[in-house]
Amino acid sequence: MEAKFKKMLYGGDYNPEQWPREIWQQDMELFDKAGINSATVNVFSWARLQPSEEVYDFHELDDIVDMLTKAGKQIVLATSTAALPAWMVKRYPEVARVDNEGRRHKFGQRHNACPNSPVYRHFIQELTGRLAERYGNNENVVCWHINNEYGGECYCENCEKAFRVWLRKKYGTIEALNQAWNLAFWGHNIYDWDEIVLPNALSEGIPWQGIEEFGKEKTAFAGISIDYRRFMSDSILDDFRLERDAIRQYDKATPVTTNLMGTYKGLDYFKWAKEMDIVSWDNYPSYDTPWSHVAMRHDLMRGLKNAPFMLMEQTPSQQNWQSYNSLKKPGQMRAQSWQTVAHGGDTVQFFQLRRSVGGCEKFHGAVIAHVGTDQTRVFREVAQLGEELDRIGGSIIGSGTESKVGIIFDWDNYWALEYTSGPNIDLKYVDQISRYYEYFYQKNISVDMIPVDADFSGYDLVAAPVLYMVKEGMAEAIEAYVAAGGVFVTGFMSGIVNESDNVHLGGYPGPLRSLAGIWAEEIDALAPEQSNEILFTDGSTDQCGLLCDILHLEGAEEIARYGSNFYAGTPAVTRNVFGKGCVYYVGTMLSEDGLGKVLNMACRGAGIAPVIGEETELEVTRRISDTEAIYFVINFKDRELPLPAVFAGKKDLLSGREMPEGEMLKKYDVRIVKV
Ligand code: GLA
Ligand code: ZN
Repeated sequence: MEAKFKKMLYGGDYNPEQWPREIWQQDMELFDKAGINSATVNVFSWARLQPSEEVYDFHELDDIVDMLTKAGKQIVLATSTAALPAWMVKRYPEVARVDNEGRRHKFGQRHNACPNSPVYRHFIQELTGRLAERYGNNENVVCWHINNEYGGECYCENCEKAFRVWLRKKYGTIEALNQAWNLAFWGHNIYDWDEIVLPNALSEGIPWQGIEEFGKEKTAFAGISIDYRRFMSDSILDDFRLERDAIRQYDKATPVTTNLMGTYKGLDYFKWAKEMDIVSWDNYPSYDTPWSHVAMRHDLMRGLKNAPFMLMEQTPSQQNWQSYNSLKKPGQMRAQSWQTVAHGGDTVQFFQLRRSVGGCEKFHGAVIAHVGTDQTRVFREVAQLGEELDRIGGSIIGSGTESKVGIIFDWDNYWALEYTSGPNIDLKYVDQISRYYEYFYQKNISVDMIPVDADFSGYDLVAAPVLYMVKEGMAEAIEAYVAAGGVFVTGFMSGIVNESDNVHLGGYPGPLRSLAGIWAEEIDALAPEQSNEILFTDGSTDQCGLLCDILHLEGAEEIARYGSNFYAGTPAVTRNVFGKGCVYYVGTMLSEDGLGKVLNMACRGAGIAPVIGEETELEVTRRISDTEAIYFVINFKDRELPLPAVFAGKKDLLSGREMPEGEMLKKYDVRIVKV
């Protein structure tokens, strides 16, 4: 794999336009002291670049680009289109969004342009084209950053019209659309394309107990709402493409990205990644986010293109927008950064380089604090990391990751599963995927997060928890994979619906039924205070909750059964041999230990090995290039842990020291070893 950058970018969002010029020179000096080699500029400057419809003014950005170029900094150049100028909303109110409750928004905030507004589209192409023409040939501009954290949704008339066009293209005839959405239900039959309305809170949205945002989460017609999600994701992606193509008119080579947000629900990132040259993302764990959750998001971002990614943003210390914005403890930012690199990050960038003086982000951490000097803890930690990345980053970038385990992540399933009305409100897509990821993470087994249409043949084990929607061709692909010797793990709420959210008739899990060798006759929902007992065939017991499939064996063997309720004694977990491989079906939500037991069996059968043989509570990951393997060892636990014996006597690249046997790693300690 080839790296997109000559060296690991180390920098982040930088907004000199918010500061008087005498500060700029101080910034350049402080950046050098901190080892900052890059800056992301022009993220929110549209109104300065274009003070009115007729006037473009690049003199300030020219000066900023000049200054950074002279200082030898690599520039990530944003296109500024994520916050609308006031004049534009005043003159063309249609550029602002209409929300789920039908309210047209006013000027203000950001990330809120109507993606289907022809006016907005005109202006973004115009601006981005001019930027590319002006700065595309600057050698220091190493990456284009389009817009910022795309997301959200619009329910305006332009979007409604565009939705109809999108649907016509997809379905061809109104009959096919009625069929797909099962509109005979409640007599919602449609006879003309212009009878279609957007499924907002005023239309098919259902207010739901316990869900604060009215109509947002549940819908009377998941088929319509899922299509709306696909359409919105596509609409916003069209905006991205328009900007990218405007850049490409003048700049054929510089990589183009936009910053994604991990498991953000609104956009089908696998589809998006195909249009991006490199994936980048913003990593903002909260004070209580488990490190495995962060790791999974890194792996997902790497999985989008199966390639190294950029960490576009993280805070050097605290956030401002969470409820409790704890400081990062000494060493924590460094450990978090190396974890990013360990999982495939080729850049480490911050939001932001200088802490803003006003606005809602004045309490957001930054490399340069309000005190304005290098005499802060955060600055010293940033400088230390800068030195380390500069020294060893170059030998890491571009290297890949090797995984024999794939976990399927799919936005269609994400949307469909969470739109279901029943059986259990607590069923959440990312939660369920995380439970599986957690097992592999704790064991230091490398995982690829893969799309539903991945080539499974490179994996020895594929897990697809809550594979609720099985689209056309998918069951066949899994069958071929298992028949050839693959191990497949799935379970409750899988194989239930097709791509339009209509049930696969003939018994659950529909198209996975013969593969799994079971029939799920009924699905019981358990409230948080309820549970069932699980009895494994080896005599051990466990507790389960959330959902309980009532299963019949159709060729599969039983691994565990229920201990109580009227279905006590019926199978809860099964294993079915299929061709040369086998399928595990986990019919209920087991405890972490219970699921671990099943996955232990599956891993043993598939011959899955952790990154190192030795068991350890340290996070151990590996990146691999043609010639070498680099191991990253990080302590995220609250106590000291011993260095695994395989690394004893090896050199730690960070300190240059040979590591003695039994060396103890403190919390947030990192070791990097090249083999
Ligand atoms: C997001 C945005 C940034 C900034 C940070 C603050 O990631 O992209 O502009 O607002 O959040 O954490
Ligand atoms: Zn709109």
